[in-house]
Amino acid sequence: MKKKQKKSEVDYPTTGHEWDGIREYDKPMPRWWLNTLYMCIVWAIGYTIAYPAWPLINGATPGLLGWSSRADVAAEIAKVNEQNAEISAKLLATPMAEIGSDAELANFAKAGGAAVFRTYCAQCHGEGADGGGQGTGYPSLQDDDWLWGGESDTIHTTITHGIRYESDDDTRFSEMPKFGEILEEEEITSIANFVRSLSNLEHDAALAETGKELFADNCAACHGDTGTGDREQGAPNLTDAIWLYGKDLDTITKTITYARFGVMPAWTGRISDAQIKQVAFYVHELGGGE
Ligand code: HEC
Ligand code: HEC
Repeated sequence: MKKKQKKSEVDYPTTGHEWDGIREYDKPMPRWWLNTLYMCIVWAIGYTIAYPAWPLINGATPGLLGWSSRADVAAEIAKVNEQNAEISAKLLATPMAEIGSDAELANFAKAGGAAVFRTYCAQCHGEGADGGGQGTGYPSLQDDDWLWGGESDTIHTTITHGIRYESDDDTRFSEMPKFGEILEEEEITSIANFVRSLSNLEHDAALAETGKELFADNCAACHGDTGTGDREQGAPNLTDAIWLYGKDLDTITKTITYARFGVMPAWTGRISDAQIKQVAFYVHELGGGE
């Protein structure tokens, strides 16, 4: 060991620095390593000149090549749009009800509609269009229970103009009165029991009997004499087992007392007309289409 140490002292030149008898070897970085480092520095300087790099207050230095990821995406979108221009035009010219009979068009509408749905609709209606479960106020679009109608044209209108979306003049509109301002609390409890009886849920039979008359006077105009609803007014069917806001006595009492005002935005102007047609077709195909 001692010998070896001595030998290395002889082999390596020192820098001449010495602290308390400890000397510093002069061992430069290997040439190849330094060259790589210098090349990296040159490349980095070149890169920051050619491409967007240095952050400024608003954005970054643009770079001499003028490249931007945004422009790249825009170009790619333009390319896809161009590729789809012909079939999009055909889709726009085809009535909703006839899209299904052209296999190529149907495929295009369904695939595009699924993508539109994931991007713009899923946050309210749920990833699988199941409405996020009963009681959320967002209807399932998979079942055959429709507030406003399940034909492809009707669905198309709903999506185009929205529901109770007041900045669209053609929006679907109706408003259930707040019966808390019209009826007594006991009367509302009776009606709520009657509403539950319509779908064979547990209820107080005597209260439901009183509620039946009150329903005919106050509710039948919108929900129908037998409670099956009215699509002209978006009044839900109260006799099926499907609930927009919920079936427990408390929730029904709340619905009657304070009413509900479900809003869905209009999509015209927000997404293209072709996209609206695609997603309308997609929703119609989900299983409940009429
Ligand atoms: C901000 C939440 C929201 C978004 C986003 C949304 N919806 Fe809706 N949608 C609703 C609500 C709430 C209703 C029920 C309105 C009511 O009470 O009548 C509804 C109702 C509907 C209906 C009517 C269902 C029926 O039974 O008649 C259709 C069809 C529909 N939405 C499709 C879509 C499509 C397609 C999209 C995406 C382009 C979309 N919605 C995006 C909230 C939303
Ligand atoms: C002017 C028409 C109108 C009248 C009158 C009316 N409703 Fe409604 N009702 C509606 C509409 C429209 C909705 C859906 C509201 C929404 O989608 O936000 C609704 C929703 C409901 C719901 C929610 C159903 C669910 O699936 O969660 C219940 C329950 C209900 N009404 C009961 C009644 C009762 C009981 C009366 C009478 C006391 C009544 N309504 C009177 C229009 C009406």
